[in-house]
This record gives sequence, structure tokens and C-alpha cells, in this order.
Amino acid sequence: MRIDIITIFPEMFEGPFSESIIKRAQEKKLVDIHLHQLRDYTTDKHRKTDDYAFSGGAGMVMMIEPVARCIDALTAERDYDEIIYMSPDGELLDQKMANTLSLKGNIIILCGHYKGIDERIREHLITKEISIGNYVLSGGELAAAVLVDSVVRLIPGVLGNETSALSDSFQDGLVSPPVYTRPREFRGWKVPDILLSGNEKLITEWKYEQSLKRTKERRPGMLGEES
Ligand code: ADE
Repeated sequence: MRIDIITIFPEMFEGPFSESIIKRAQEKKLVDIHLHQLRDYTTDKHRKTDDYAFSGGAGMVMMIEPVARCIDALTAERDYDEIIYMSPDGELLDQKMANTLSLKGNIIILCGHYKGIDERIREHLITKEISIGNYVLSGGELAAAVLVDSVVRLIPGVLGNETSALSDSFQDGLVSPPVYTRPREFRGWKVPDILLSGNEKLITEWKYEQSLKRTKERRPGMLGEES
């Protein structure tokens, strides 16, 4: 999978993309991530990517020209399955969406800033708008990093058997059961006996029951029940 990210703050991705699972996925060549500095696609000498909104109002607006030039340069090289804009009013990211995107070949992610982006970008250049939650971030970069993390870990081969995404919360429509490690007892707080019993069948049943109980308590909407 190839992911092209358009941003005025490429450095913001250095941390999240150079550690852990995303780092390994890139090393294994299972994902190829490219960061594009939007300012490189401006024509004015100040490398301006924003301007005042027509009709006034607070805040600057991201201009269409550099964005269109950058997207044109990318799409001239290869076809893209989606051109995504990260926006608080986009479709809410969930596990199902992450699964769908993990099966794509090439995607572009545009990170917005300021008060928003020229609406014509959304109308004519973008194929999908994604929000990571009902709150406003200072820009699309952190949201894009969250999206990329949720997608890349699902690409076949990225996670080993042990850490398989199949057992993730939400993956099978339930949240994960509780897990424990050594010691068996700490300050009198004990690991449930059943997990130490060695009885695989009972353990599997227990884990399922715990998942179901937690889902009912914490995410009743996932079971089609009212929250
Ligand atoms: N940009 C600013 N806030 C955002 C959010 N919640 N999700 C996606 N992109 C954003």
C-alpha cells in the first residue's frame, strides 16, 4: 500500500511513523509512506498556502491552487483509490472504515489547517472526508497519523500471529476481554483462577463472556442496543 500525505507540517509525522508497528511495516515494505510539503507547490515567493476568506469572517482559508497542483502531480504518476481530506465534519473513523482502507492500493491524505479549506477542493478534488472524533484539532496532521496507524496495522503481514489484529477490540464487533500477566498476585489482587487453569475451552468461553459483558457495559451501541 502507498500513502501520500499532503501537509504544511511534515515534521509532525516523524515521531509516530518512526516507531513501533508503522516503522516495521515500512521496513518490511508493506507500506510506502510519502510526505509532501504543500509549500513546494506554491508559485508565490512567500510560499503562501492560505488567504483571507471572501466575505470576511475569522480565520484564513487554505487555497485551492497549491493543493490542486500537488494532487495533479501525484495523480499524473499513478491512480489513487481515495483522496481523503481530514476534517472534523467528515465521516467518523471506525474499525470497519480502517479495514476497508487497509485493502486499498494507493491513497492520498490531505491535512487541512486554518479555518478550513476552499470548498472547491472538497467538491472537486476530494473523494472522502474523515473525522477521528467530534472535537476540533489544530490541524489534520494528528488525525492523519491516527488514521494511518489504524489502517497500517491491518495490512496483511504487518502484525505477527501473536499480535494479530483479529483479536483487537472492535474487530469482531466486541471490545477486548481483560488481560493479565505476572505476578499471579499483587497486593492481594489476584488473576482470575480460570486463566491459570490451563483449560483452553473454558478460557475461550470466559474471554468471550467478558468481551460481551464489557461491550454491553461500555459500547451497547455495538450490539444494536441503545446507549
Ligand atoms: N482536523 C481538525 N479536527 C479534526 C478531527 N477531529 N478529525 C479529523 N480532522 C480534523
